[in-house]
Amino acid sequence: MEKFYITTPIYYPSGKFHIGTAYTTVLADTIRRYKKLRGYDTFMLTGTDEHGQKIETVAKEHGKTPQEHVDEMAKMAKDLWKLMDINYDYFIRTTEPRHKKAVQEIFEYFLQKGDIYKGEYEGWYCMPCETYFTETQLVDGKCPDCGREVKLMKEEAYFFNMKKYTEKLLKYYDEHPDFIQPEYRKTEMINNFIKPGLEDLCVTRTSFDWGIKVKSDSKHVIYVWLDALTNYLTALGYTQDDDELFKKYWPADLQIIGKDIARFHLIYWPIFLMALDLPLPKKILVHNWIMMKDGKMSKSKGNVVYPEMLVERYGLDATRYFLLKEFPYGQDAIFTPEDFVNKYNFDLCNDLGNLLNRTIGMVNKYFGGNVPNYKGRINDVDAELEETVASKISEYENNMEDLHFSNAIESIWGIISRANKYIDETAPWTLAKQEKTEKLESVMSHLVETLRIVAILIKPAMTETSNKILSQLGINEEASKEYDTIKEFGKTTSDLKVIEKGEPIFLRLDANEEIEYIKNKMKE
Ligand code: ME8
Ligand code: MG
Repeated sequence: MEKFYITTPIYYPSGKFHIGTAYTTVLADTIRRYKKLRGYDTFMLTGTDEHGQKIETVAKEHGKTPQEHVDEMAKMAKDLWKLMDINYDYFIRTTEPRHKKAVQEIFEYFLQKGDIYKGEYEGWYCMPCETYFTETQLVDGKCPDCGREVKLMKEEAYFFNMKKYTEKLLKYYDEHPDFIQPEYRKTEMINNFIKPGLEDLCVTRTSFDWGIKVKSDSKHVIYVWLDALTNYLTALGYTQDDDELFKKYWPADLQIIGKDIARFHLIYWPIFLMALDLPLPKKILVHNWIMMKDGKMSKSKGNVVYPEMLVERYGLDATRYFLLKEFPYGQDAIFTPEDFVNKYNFDLCNDLGNLLNRTIGMVNKYFGGNVPNYKGRINDVDAELEETVASKISEYENNMEDLHFSNAIESIWGIISRANKYIDETAPWTLAKQEKTEKLESVMSHLVETLRIVAILIKPAMTETSNKILSQLGINEEASKEYDTIKEFGKTTSDLKVIEKGEPIFLRLDANEEIEYIKNKMKE
């Protein structure tokens, strides 16, 4: 069985996660489910990034020790992933003893190899980003990443010799055109950071305490990014006695990150791996951000959308559907309550919900709930429907492989709208008046079969809805695990009995009321 190791960033647990942060994890979970459905042996890693000055400060503000604070935050993250049905295989916390030990060992190894050396650092430090900047990197004297105040600081410190690896990294980029997705992110790295000359990276701090100490020089704390990035290895047992998982799953097949942490993952991370003589991840996907009409989500602006609120009111699948559909590949998405409610009403309620409802209703009305057996394509309309389904399935698969999720969803909806059109074209209510039932039988078996295929295709993104559709059609949930059955029309429609009365899977929303509801929640 081919393996598939997928990672999300480890989250910075400084406060509640908003829908933007939840996006990465929903994406990873969807891909993991898809790969599993396609027969891969999958492993998904997520977790929390628990060290650093900001955590120390936030904990103090809450009157807690950093450890108490991160314990609570890790629990909060796990609760959210549970609510969102995120099926990770391991949740790493960087305060785990085995991780700390491994990071210390990696640091000593770099030191002994000469990749890390001791020097003195002076620079402009942004506390929330835990990053030093040079004078020229500042934007209007402020942090170029977050726009906040920076402070001039000086300290004895250790440095990682990035210059040593610059050429090797460029060569790697060149020889592995698929390594970074979308490609423009690679160009960005080269033009903005590598061409101007890559600085050696300061990899220790002395200005605070909450972090992993350098083993051979304990007044230094290891830079959070060196600590955090290695989680992808240590979680699998790298440098530990039990490294079965590491041997089996490394290198990662796909690492997903947001655009703000691209520099760390596309430059420093590959260089650390080269210094460790380890293979690089096969692919890194940099996704964009969910923005609001007035810019970034922030508490002070009163425009934050929390996943819990959407899930509680509209259900998990509507929330996941929205997140996956909303992002055009390689671009930011803008959240508006109007858009959320419209997608719910049009895509989920009208297109998908009605297709199911009409089909169940007609099978009950015309055939007492018994789905007529599939007898092949009996005319052009049948043939056209089947051909559309087949071509949309392969389009969907290509989109999933290319990581074009919004397009993959569109491929599925292409099937749904074709099936709705098929109902209009075949007019079953007219066929029902004819004496011979052959045509009507064919229409019903085609509709049920199309819905079965849709249920399997949406399963990675919307598991609950997938199961609801199958159960209304009278199909065993187990059958939906056999992905390849969708390649052949009429595979499982024999002797099915649909349920008598299908509950609507999505209830139509009062648009104005719900838009107001979301707007008010955003201000809370
Ligand atoms: O960066 N839209 O953690 P984090 C989409 N600890 N994605 C967003 C977003 C938005 N509005 N806001 C944040 C860290 N994200 C580090 C990672 S990995 C070794 C260490 C994404 O909790 C962001 O891009 O600040 C990142 O991928 C993820 O949420 C976690 O961010
Ligand atoms: Mg962040």
